[in-house]
Amino acid sequence: MKPTFLITSGPTREFIDPVRFISNSSSGKMGEAIAREAVKKAQQVIVISGPSQARFSAKIKCIPVVSSREMFEKTKKYFSKADIIIGAAAVSDYRPKNYKKQKIKKNNSFLNFNLVKNPDILSCLGKIKGKKVLVGFALETHNILNSAKKKLKTKNLDFIVANSLKSIGSDKTTAWLIDKCGIMYKVENNKNILARRIIDESIRIWKNNKTC
Ligand code: CTP
Repeated sequence: MKPTFLITSGPTREFIDPVRFISNSSSGKMGEAIAREAVKKAQQVIVISGPSQARFSAKIKCIPVVSSREMFEKTKKYFSKADIIIGAAAVSDYRPKNYKKQKIKKNNSFLNFNLVKNPDILSCLGKIKGKKVLVGFALETHNILNSAKKKLKTKNLDFIVANSLKSIGSDKTTAWLIDKCGIMYKVENNKNILARRIIDESIRIWKNNKTC
């Protein structure tokens, strides 16, 4: 039996007005590499992808989205089909409270706007995951391992991939795979090797129906 994967990938964009948005520097390379590895071993691969240069083969069902809320809606829509869910997207945590329908003009020296929190996609799925395998990422500037361990717990993940800022936009990465029992692997290599490790580990957990 082969699993169905649901993968979130790339950044999301939160528009302020018709031409400006808040986003982040995610390239989508990690999500692309994970989907490429998953398709070799999966029943089906569904990717919910924010705007990026990532390209997905015709064997992968790619659903393009723009905002975090759109990503959340589409992820919820396909959740029931999935056995393994991997949150590789760099989801924008906040969005502008008020979207301006007309382009904001530079009339003043200062521009203030309020931001409101977006839903945390993985945290919501963690509450209803049941026997599905849920994998997240933690991108940190400092205190990498401790912050990742905290996210593993609060989001109810089976394991988390902790990495540093150096991974952004690069083909290379240094990452730790951490489950509830501690560090499983340290991967210092390119994103394809890390992707293979993530896919193999998630399938192992799915088949054995337990983490550690
Ligand atoms: N994530 C998510 N929904 C969000 C924010 C994050 O599903 N609104 C997922 C990401 O896809 C990633 C994991 O949660 O797998 C951790 O994301 P990260 O940005 O490292 O952490 P946050 O939970 O956003 O916390 P903080 O920004 O405070 O570090």
